[in-house]
Amino acid sequence: MTVTKQVEIIIDGRKIRVPQGTTILKAAAMLEIRIPTLCHHEELSPSGSCRLCIVEISNPSQNPDRSWIDSACVCPASEGLNIKTHSPRVLKERKLIIELLLSRAPDSQQIMKLALENGITKPRFTAADEGKSNCILCGLCMRVCNELIKAEAIGFSGRGIKKEVVSPFKIAGDLCIGCKACEAVCPTGVINFKIENKKLRKQDWGVALEMIFCPDCGQPVGTSVQMEQLKEKITITDELLSCCPACRRKKNYSVRTVLHRTAKGLSDVSDYNRLTSKETG
Ligand code: SF4
Ligand code: FES
Repeated sequence: MTVTKQVEIIIDGRKIRVPQGTTILKAAAMLEIRIPTLCHHEELSPSGSCRLCIVEISNPSQNPDRSWIDSACVCPASEGLNIKTHSPRVLKERKLIIELLLSRAPDSQQIMKLALENGITKPRFTAADEGKSNCILCGLCMRVCNELIKAEAIGFSGRGIKKEVVSPFKIAGDLCIGCKACEAVCPTGVINFKIENKKLRKQDWGVALEMIFCPDCGQPVGTSVQMEQLKEKITITDELLSCCPACRRKKNYSVRTVLHRTAKGLSDVSDYNRLTSKETG
């Protein structure tokens, strides 16, 4: 059995021992120190793309005069690091990052809230500077699609301000199952699926999938392709599967499902993973 070495670090003046390699973000969370994040999700691999979680790091035993800035979500803890999450340098650089994110995604409620919390009332940069698209290119949508749903239905295309999230080769494909996990995790709210003419649609990704509606109350339940996949993973009758969660509960069916997914939170994603990776009664 491999024993992971423990290291001691200091975060905002408080000592903590953690297994070597634990991210600074995780170590800070153990101390209940909040570091803001946008591109991080507990169940997905870290990408370090939004830079919002920057912290100031030094290693006094090696060089007391040097400190550097790094993203807490990807930076591993190593012996003797001294980390400041809210130093003047961090706050100044984080403010600039938020201004840039805001110019790229000016309609995002979450980024607007961050801006206000950080004293930004009027951003210095305009949408034209950063290429307004309301997408901050954090890649969360792709990571959830690849790593949890395993559909690999979307990816980045283009460069610079023309970079965007697209379906493969920007054409309609059959990879998307319409689970809407991407919509649930997107921090800017720019991904919007719509139900039109009994189909779940996302026009720019070429998605048009047949929807199943609850036979009891008429609520949308999920796409037929999503149902087919779930049927292979869980034990459930067709009748119960086609019901919405509320009507299913009335029939005393106890398993929580994500079939009726609104943008209601990230726990849906783990539920989906649980259901798609295990036999659940
Ligand atoms: S669409 Fe949303 S989740 Fe995907 S990269 Fe853009 S901001 Fe991130
Ligand atoms: S949360 Fe760490 S870089 Fe985005």
